[in-house]
Amino acid sequence: MLFHDLILNQEKPIYEQIMEHIQYAIQNNLVTPDSKLPSTRELAHVLGVSRNTVIQAYENLEAENMIQTKKGRGTFITGNAFLQRKPEIQKEPDWRVDWNSKANTYALQAEKMDIIKNEIPWSKDLISFKSISPDGELFDLEEFKRSFLYRLSVEGNKILNYGYARGYLPLIEYLKEYMAEKGVSGEQKDILITNGFTEGFEMMVEAFTNPGDYVLCENPTHNTALRIMHLHGVKVIGVPMGKDGLNVDEMERLLQRYPIRFIYVIPSYHNPTGIVIGEKKRTKIYECCRFHGVPIIEDGFTEELLYGSSHVMPIASFDRVGNGVIYIGSFSKILFPGLRIGWIMGDKRVISLLESVKRCKNIHTSSIDQGILYEYLQSNALERQMKRMRKSYKERFEWAKDCVEEYMDPDYIWGDGGLHLYVGLKKVPARKLLKACYEKKVIFMPGDVFSLDQSGDQALRLGLSRVTIEEIAKGISIIGECQQKLL
Ligand SMILES: Cc1ncc(COP(=O)(O)O)c(C=O)c1O
Repeated sequence: MLFHDLILNQEKPIYEQIMEHIQYAIQNNLVTPDSKLPSTRELAHVLGVSRNTVIQAYENLEAENMIQTKKGRGTFITGNAFLQRKPEIQKEPDWRVDWNSKANTYALQAEKMDIIKNEIPWSKDLISFKSISPDGELFDLEEFKRSFLYRLSVEGNKILNYGYARGYLPLIEYLKEYMAEKGVSGEQKDILITNGFTEGFEMMVEAFTNPGDYVLCENPTHNTALRIMHLHGVKVIGVPMGKDGLNVDEMERLLQRYPIRFIYVIPSYHNPTGIVIGEKKRTKIYECCRFHGVPIIEDGFTEELLYGSSHVMPIASFDRVGNGVIYIGSFSKILFPGLRIGWIMGDKRVISLLESVKRCKNIHTSSIDQGILYEYLQSNALERQMKRMRKSYKERFEWAKDCVEEYMDPDYIWGDGGLHLYVGLKKVPARKLLKACYEKKVIFMPGDVFSLDQSGDQALRLGLSRVTIEEIAKGISIIGECQQKLL
């Protein structure tokens, strides 16, 4: 409670003015029960009056049970003081602002496109094939706890202070090596740590497009990336997909036809189709974009999963001394999405610009989170977790594929592994099928969520990472029954 604004006058005794000031604060909710008052000595000093005057004011209020002095602790407003308040004479109507009318197009559009708000919500009684977030049962919590305590004791209070916009340096160094192991040269390149892929991609769109610019991507593609591009006013053009990935001839035609700012691709375990583009096609995509001078943003979000094959070289690895490929990685699927940590590796100038953008957005990604992650990675826990994940997801993936073949009548099944399957439906709109399945307590992601045109209307994505083997069989058989009925 402030006494600086108590201007004393000659008209009333001073102790009365002090009492009125405190009573006014109680009457108008400027204090709460148990608010502490300054000591009589302090207040006398602030107001430039004798201590006895303040003591008199406090004693009078205490006699009225409005304040209470607790020995050795100070003087406090009582709860009773609030019961004694006079009823407000003239109650103003509540202040209501129409925030909806004040919201800008960005916010309104973001809400309109928000699939969490607009699609069927998850509930316990559903078999849900909606999610592709990792199975938390596979996390190594003990190692995580150890990493937290160890990093905190090594770094001490430093790690709780502001850090570098580019990220936690040991993690950046680790990632340079990690990328080198993937075959991506760090020459003339830098790394910036981001709050997951999502922030990294949004920063790329913010920094390298203007509203009205053309951007190319696979169709269908990651819904969040689509939303980000649309919300920034970018004109998004889709390259159709086949079972081996995007159609390169069509991509080339579009590159010739439009002034494209960049192309966004997910070469491994593409979301939503699960397709892994082969090496020859990767080379073609790279060569074609290079020829047309159109940079590539490569999303490597789950390329480590690798069920059947050995490591497939990222497109960024073809760009040994060039600077046309920007690689965005994420620990959301292979480790913990809740940490929100990803990274961008690219040309030094790109990273320098993004460093400034990052500083404007949120200064830097949480240092303690980066520190824990670094420690976790150092301990080889990633490799151990990857082994558990590969085994568990592979089992679910192969089982789900068998179930789709057995129970459904698919037009096509896409997916080379990963956390999901993409199923084409014969003549049945996915939305209609979803409605029927929801009545039987099964849900999935309809293909239109990922698509730029009608091509996803007769397709669905089955997320497999959060369902058990039993749920997979039961859920897919229900989808199959509903499909039969609608055919
Ligand atoms: C294609 C794709 N990229 C990246 C991500 C990860 O995003 P983030 O790192 O922001 O959690 C996802 C998550 O679903 C995704 O589907």
